[in-house]
Amino acid sequence: MKIINAKSCQEISDIATSIILKQIKKKKNSVLCLPTGKTPLLMYKKLVQLFHDGKISFEKVLCFNLDEYYGLNKENKNSYHYYMRKNFFNFVDAEDENIFILDGMAKNFKKECDDFEKKIKKTNGIDLMILGIGENGHIGFNEPEGSFLSRTRLVNLDISTRRANSKPFKSLRNTPKRALTIGLKTIMEAKQIILLASGNKKKNIVKKAFKDKINKKIPASILQTHKNVTAIIDFKI
Ligand code: PGA
Repeated sequence: MKIINAKSCQEISDIATSIILKQIKKKKNSVLCLPTGKTPLLMYKKLVQLFHDGKISFEKVLCFNLDEYYGLNKENKNSYHYYMRKNFFNFVDAEDENIFILDGMAKNFKKECDDFEKKIKKTNGIDLMILGIGENGHIGFNEPEGSFLSRTRLVNLDISTRRANSKPFKSLRNTPKRALTIGLKTIMEAKQIILLASGNKKKNIVKKAFKDKINKKIPASILQTHKNVTAIIDFKI
C-alpha cells in the first residue's frame, strides 16, 4: 500500500487527475469507478479543464459510480446522478450509454444491484477505482461491521454518515436512511485503487484504516490486502 503525501486538496486532485490521465492514455476504453462527496470536486474540475484543453477524452471510457441514495430520483439536486452531471458529465464527452449509476428509485433494488454487478463483470473489471473515505471508515456506502465479501446492495446508512451528509438535506430527518452501494468485494476486484482524503478530520480514520489490524469496524482497512492501492492525503499519518 502506497501513500502519497500532498500539500493540499488541490495537490491531491492534481495527482489523482494525472493517474486517471495516464490510465486513459494507456487504454482509451478504460473502466473507471467514480466517487462523489466534497473531496473529489477539485479533481472533477481539473478533469473538465483537461478535456477543454484537448488533453483527455472520455468518449470511450466506461464510468461506473460507487453509490446512490435510495429513494432519490435522478433529478433530485441531492442525488449522486445530479452531482455527477453538475460537476462532471455535463462538461465532458462521456457517452450516456457508457455511464452507469445505480437508480435510487429502483422498485426492484435487488435486480438493480445484481444487474450493476453483471455490467461490471461484462467489462472485464474495473481498471481504476477512485475512493473517498468517510470519517467512520466507510468506502462507497459500506458502513462499519458489513461483510468484506459484500456485493452491490441496499444498505442502511450509519447515523454518523447521515449526520455528515445532512447539510444539503437541511435536517437529519430529511437525510436518506438507505443507499445502494457497490460492495467491498466489488471494490477489491478493481485492478487499481486510489483513495483520496483531505483535511485533519480524516487523519484519524485513515491512520486506523492503514496502520491498524484489518477489522470490520473500519471497512477501508480491507484495502491493506489489495495489491495496487495508493492513498493520496494532505496530512501525515
Ligand atoms: P467527503 O465524503 O468527500 O464529502 O468527505 C467522503 C465519503 O463519505 O466517502
